[in-house]
Order: sequence, then structure tokens, then C-alpha cells
Amino acid sequence: MEIKAERTSIIESNANNQAIRNAAVQFFNATVDAKYSYCFDWLERPIIQYPQDIVAFQELVSRLKSDLILETGIAHGGSLVLSASLLCLLDVMEGLDPRQSPRKVVGVDIDIRPHNLKALDEHPLRFKMELIEGSSIDPDIIKQVRSHADGVKRVLVSLDSNHTHEHVLAELNAYADLASVGSYCIVFDTVIEDLPAGGFPDRPWDVGNNPKTAVHEWLKSHPEFEIDKDIDNKLLISVAPDGYLRRIKR
Ligand SMILES: C[S@@+](CC[C@H](N)C(=O)[O-])C[C@H]1O[C@@H](n2cnc3c(N)ncnc32)[C@H](O)[C@@H]1O
Repeated sequence: MEIKAERTSIIESNANNQAIRNAAVQFFNATVDAKYSYCFDWLERPIIQYPQDIVAFQELVSRLKSDLILETGIAHGGSLVLSASLLCLLDVMEGLDPRQSPRKVVGVDIDIRPHNLKALDEHPLRFKMELIEGSSIDPDIIKQVRSHADGVKRVLVSLDSNHTHEHVLAELNAYADLASVGSYCIVFDTVIEDLPAGGFPDRPWDVGNNPKTAVHEWLKSHPEFEIDKDIDNKLLISVAPDGYLRRIKR
């Protein structure tokens, strides 16, 4: 069987395999307190992600041939460097000079710490990044971010900042419409809804108040987006179940 057809049937079978699903939940629950997501770098910058989501992101950017990636939540810059590196590779694969091509990633963070800014400023892929400091839901910041998408054909949006219901809902309202038809708005940390309650005592989010509750509320009035369950079924371990939102129409 051809690999891609075979893969479709493997993913379907795994999605219905309760033993794998239970193992994935057990693995995920055990890794939260262990701070597993803090263990990885992308091209020498710490990236606060699970490897499965990093691979899914790579597959999306590569398939969608994104021209612009908009990200909320920079932290140490790993996800920004990931985006920048993938955009450079797309350029190279299309015979373009990454330094001349307009492809870029725009990142917003309310607090870009000086040591992270320095590291990003010194990073070889800095030329692909635009950094904006401020709250992602501040009207002036929204205006600045949105201006980067003017006239851009293929836009991918990634939301990974403050994980409260209210904040994510406001980010979805501010940015999701920038995702082009066929592209995605990815909402990270939806998994909080599926974890045991009280797991983040020093954070304002919890079961009932998190990115997944925001996604479900927002989708009720946004039929132009749908959850890509195929990605969830494939990853099984992910911080973003129900968070890969595909834009299916204008
Ligand atoms: C989970 S980290 C981002 C991780 C990053 N995307 C990565 O993969 O490495 C969340 C970031 O969101 C930022 N943040 C919190 N509230 C924010 C807000 N209102 N607007 C923009 N960024 C915010 C924090 O400062 C923090 O750096």
C-alpha cells in the first residue's frame, strides 16, 4: 500500500485504539508536573512545546506554503525561531533567497525579557522575525499585528500567550480571521481542559477556563472554521487537542 494511504488507515485505527489513547493520557498527565514541555530547543532557543506539536506545525507550514506566520506568546523565542526556520526552508525549496523573500514571522509578547531579546537579536534567523512588545489584545497592538497581513496571501495564526478563556476568546476575535482559507488558526494549551482540575495553582487558568473552552464558545459563531480532528487523532499526545482550527470558507 502507498505510504500515505497506509498512514490514513493507521491513524484511523490508532484513534480508535483505547489502549493507545489511555497510554497517551497517562503519559500527558505525568509529564505536566514534570515540566516536560520545558526540555526542548529549536535551533538553540528554548521552545515550550511538545515534540508532537512541533512536527504537526512543520507539516502544516510545509503543506500550506505559508507566507506569514502570526504568533502570540514569544517567551524564549523557540517557536518564533521554528517558524523563521521553516519559512527560510520554504524559500529555499522554491528557489528564493530567504533574505530577499517577504516571508516572515510576527511575534507578540507582553514581556520580551532582555536576555531573550538579546538572544533573538543575535540569532542568525533574526532577519525573518518581527517582534512586537505589548498585550496581544491591546487595540494598538492588534492594529500593528494586523498591518503585517495586509495583502498577504497565505497566513497562519498561532495563539500561545495568556491561556484564560477570556483572553483566548479576545485573541480569536482579534486574529483568527487573518488565517487564509485552507490555512489554520492554532490555539495552544487547549489540553488544560482535559487535565485534572487545580493543576496550575499559580495561574489563572484551569478546567472550565482555558483555551479549549474559548475555542468551543468561539466556534459556535464562526462556522468558517472547523476543528481538524485528523491532526488530534494522529498526534494523540498534544497540548492542542481541538486547537488546530482549519479555515474552510471566507
Ligand atoms: C507559553 S509561553 C509562549 C511559548 C512560545 N510560543 C514557545 O513555543 O516557546 C507564553 C508567553 O505569553 C506571554 N503573554 C502572556 N500574556 C500575554 C498577553 N496579554 N499578550 C501577549 N503575550 C502574553 C508571556 O509573556 C509568555 O512569554
